[in-house]
Amino acid sequence: MNASPAAAGAIDWARVRADFPLLAREVHGKPLVYFDSANTGQKPVAVIDAVDDFYRRHNANVSRAVHTLGTEATDAYEGARRRLAQHLNARADELVLTSGTTFAINLVAYSWALPRLKPGDAILLTRMEHHANIVPWQLVAERTGASIKVADITPHGVLDLDALHAAMTPDVKLLGVAHVSNVLGTINPVAAICREARRRGIVSVVDGSQALPHLAVDIPAIGCDFYAFTGHKMCGPTGTGALWARPEHLAAMPPFLGGGEMIKEVRFEGTVYNDPPHRFEAGTPNIAGHIGLGVAAAYLDDLGMPRVTAREGELLAHLDEEMRKVDGLRIIGNAPDKAAVVSFLVEGAHAHDLATLLDLEGVAVRSGHHCAHPLMRFYGVPATCRASLSFYNTHEEIDTFITALRKVRRLLG
Ligand code: ALA
Repeated sequence: MNASPAAAGAIDWARVRADFPLLAREVHGKPLVYFDSANTGQKPVAVIDAVDDFYRRHNANVSRAVHTLGTEATDAYEGARRRLAQHLNARADELVLTSGTTFAINLVAYSWALPRLKPGDAILLTRMEHHANIVPWQLVAERTGASIKVADITPHGVLDLDALHAAMTPDVKLLGVAHVSNVLGTINPVAAICREARRRGIVSVVDGSQALPHLAVDIPAIGCDFYAFTGHKMCGPTGTGALWARPEHLAAMPPFLGGGEMIKEVRFEGTVYNDPPHRFEAGTPNIAGHIGLGVAAAYLDDLGMPRVTAREGELLAHLDEEMRKVDGLRIIGNAPDKAAVVSFLVEGAHAHDLATLLDLEGVAVRSGHHCAHPLMRFYGVPATCRASLSFYNTHEEIDTFITALRKVRRLLG
């Protein structure tokens, strides 16, 4: 990560950690070491309270009731959209609130790609994509006759940029790329990649789910066409997220789902759709969740994302150094520019056995294919264990993890 380590020192991280009540609990009689934040992040009290307060004091549906509660709910929901947009240096009306990244990418697939792609067109993806940035494009390819092309990575887990740019041939109409890999932690240079794509008339879709928890994301500076992300990895509630899109795309896209709130006028002869972003938000949204997500964005801005990045960079350097001293450990993904995510395997042990035994020591890591089968195939493994950290983790937890890892390694022979 790029931020200066000095920046991390300006904050009392022990006090920050105390904002996250769940981190104080025990598992199997041991203090919890939560190293699964890439799967879902823990929530600060401010977010938990915002959701609680909405249901206790303001609960009403949005954009449809003129009574006091309805107005309060709508104001809070739209305020959250504005707060989230501010976090991304974007405009609120460019942000479609969704249930998360999967919905956001499917919205682009069904509303932008499906009506436009045709046989002979290609969709370019990278080897390190999460299934959420693969399967929707396969569905589009099946229906339109377009094909899927894949840009490869180096064994270190870095995108081969020459190969990626060379793959941007005239048949490619859309590029799907992860900002940060959920398995490798690799931070991709998305601004440079999207610039190349744009120069060639290729529409870019960035999967930002794993970037927002770690980095300051300035969407105009990235210069993509679409940026999809999820709220629950960035201190927000589950079932939240958004799609940012260039206004010209939103204006030209038909709705993905039909229903209430996405219309101006409905007659049986035909319907006039609402303006973006509400055109893409049919039905009652996750109001409390998105209000919580707005608070999460404010919480992260108060910490300062450069400080978060620097703090996590220090934790990653410590973790990486200690893990390399453990015999028989294979680390998968050594990109020079990396978020605090480390995939690993212990020689001769299955990832699930490893994770189960670590859990008995109080350490939560994810094991499995991480919804990235093509990447597992590239490395010739069925699964990995993954330690993914956040700013609220500590150096002491890293030491506990390493002790547990050595113990588990001995147990597994
Ligand atoms: N939840 C998924 C992960 O753990 C995306 O990487």
